[in-house]
Amino acid sequence: MSSSVYSKYRAAFAQALATALGVPAADIESQVKPAEPTHGDLSFATFPLAKAQKKAPPAIAAGLAQTLSVPGLEIKAVGPYVNARFTAMPFTAEVLDTARAAGPRYGGDSEVGKGKTVTIDYSSPNIAKPIGFHHIRTTFLGHCIANIYRALGWRVEGINYLGDWGKQFGLVAVGFQEYGDPARIEDMGHLVEVYVKANARAKAEPEFDEKARDFFRRMEAGDAEALKLWNQFRETSIRGFKVIYERMGIEFEHIEGESRYQGKMDAVIEQIAKKPGVKESQGALIVDMPYAENEPPVLLKKNDGSTLYATRDLAAAEDRYERFHFDKSLYVVAQDQALHFRQLFRTLTEMGQPWADRCIHVAFGRIHGMSTRKGQVVQLNDVLDEAKDRVSAKVKENMEAGRLMTEDPDKLAEQIGLGAIAFGDLKHKRASDYNFDWDEVLSFEGHTGPYLQYAHARVATVLRKGNGAPASYDASLLTLPEEQALVREIMRLPEVVREAADQYEPSLVARLLLDVAAALSRYYTLGNQERDKRILVDDDALRSARLALADAARVTLAAGLTLLGIPTPENM
Ligand code: ARG
Repeated sequence: MSSSVYSKYRAAFAQALATALGVPAADIESQVKPAEPTHGDLSFATFPLAKAQKKAPPAIAAGLAQTLSVPGLEIKAVGPYVNARFTAMPFTAEVLDTARAAGPRYGGDSEVGKGKTVTIDYSSPNIAKPIGFHHIRTTFLGHCIANIYRALGWRVEGINYLGDWGKQFGLVAVGFQEYGDPARIEDMGHLVEVYVKANARAKAEPEFDEKARDFFRRMEAGDAEALKLWNQFRETSIRGFKVIYERMGIEFEHIEGESRYQGKMDAVIEQIAKKPGVKESQGALIVDMPYAENEPPVLLKKNDGSTLYATRDLAAAEDRYERFHFDKSLYVVAQDQALHFRQLFRTLTEMGQPWADRCIHVAFGRIHGMSTRKGQVVQLNDVLDEAKDRVSAKVKENMEAGRLMTEDPDKLAEQIGLGAIAFGDLKHKRASDYNFDWDEVLSFEGHTGPYLQYAHARVATVLRKGNGAPASYDASLLTLPEEQALVREIMRLPEVVREAADQYEPSLVARLLLDVAAALSRYYTLGNQERDKRILVDDDALRSARLALADAARVTLAAGLTLLGIPTPENM
């Protein structure tokens, strides 16, 4: 199953055009575009041919349309365009059968990334520090991008690169020694409290700040006692994070962090010293390479000798290449760190690493206005808890009103809450900022996760009532325009998944799912019917065909939501 229905017809159309024009098909394929829906499915513009043929484009289009003949396509000239429309058959059967045969794997294609490896650095929270908005986005985006690449057959090495090294540990440690509660060393919330307070103190009291620096210096020097405390904090944080990842269904191939590179920093610095060189600047050690005017240099060591974020990222990039020989190395990190990554990649290029251009910063914008009842400082777990809470109230209400039946309202609320937050994030283009609004993301109507989950559960329910969809049915009975429109949305998933992978853009998948749900809803409500009646008609043959269509729509919604990391309850 390596080519989608869409790409098969596009290739056949391009081949026919190429033969007629006497050019290689590869030259034409990229020029075949989706048509205006009223005019067809595929479109080829003849403008570029006008000069060579010394003919007006509409005349060229008319001539081509007359000579071309491709099974399964109805070809017509529309002005300067040669358009092709999928004939209802065999197209309809092909789309539905492809989707249904693939089931949960629909949209994927194990051939695309065969033999290729991608490392994806995502989530990467800082230990003993409050989680920021950017950690929420990187977690959702990274999870989805990892799912998409896996579905396309890539070997995915997801790396949770914990911020587990640096001065912040000095802050937590010194704070903890002074006013922490030893009985609560295993409580992540407590560590965060200690950190927040210590951070404020360090700003006001230079002595306290110096103590924290000193603690981190001891860590870097390998002081056993300092490292023991650090390790306890680290374990506590990792345990805390794991709860969140389990909740979200995320499994990392690797949970490691900046600390992995302790003791390996000098080797990297030596290597950089050889090429492109290092030099001192205001007591610190920096990478010696050309900088733009006013550009801050890449710091390798501070004047007190301690290493930095950039030093460790350089070591990590090399380590990842050595371990995985990646074809791509993605860093799903906030746009705020764009300079850091530009400089990181530039340094790797200056070092002569041939793979430097395989490194990509998958940057994203900010979330505005996300706060919980607990206040502004946001832990991802708090957001998910609150989403669940708010959904629970609705679930209860709907159950009491007899609109909803579920054996496990608690689980359902968890699934809808997670879906709401995840979709609320992923539907936005990653580069844009967005405003977070509880009522908006939790609504069961509109462009939301709960709406899509509901659309999926609804169609699953209809299928159950119809005793499932039969394997054999007559697709030629699906002639309504609304049926054909739905088939076309179902067809798009494989294309969209590839585009989403190429652009690291989960929002493309999110938007397609909204289109599928909208087409489904227009189909159900056609002529103001009740949804079940549209599908569960008396005529056996027609019912079978409609059930098959419903089943393909269910498969598409389920597969797409799963790629987004969103649960798909069968009942809502
Ligand atoms: N821990 C960092 C932060 O919270 C993100 C790390 C991103 N990954 C990397 N390789 N720098 O800002």
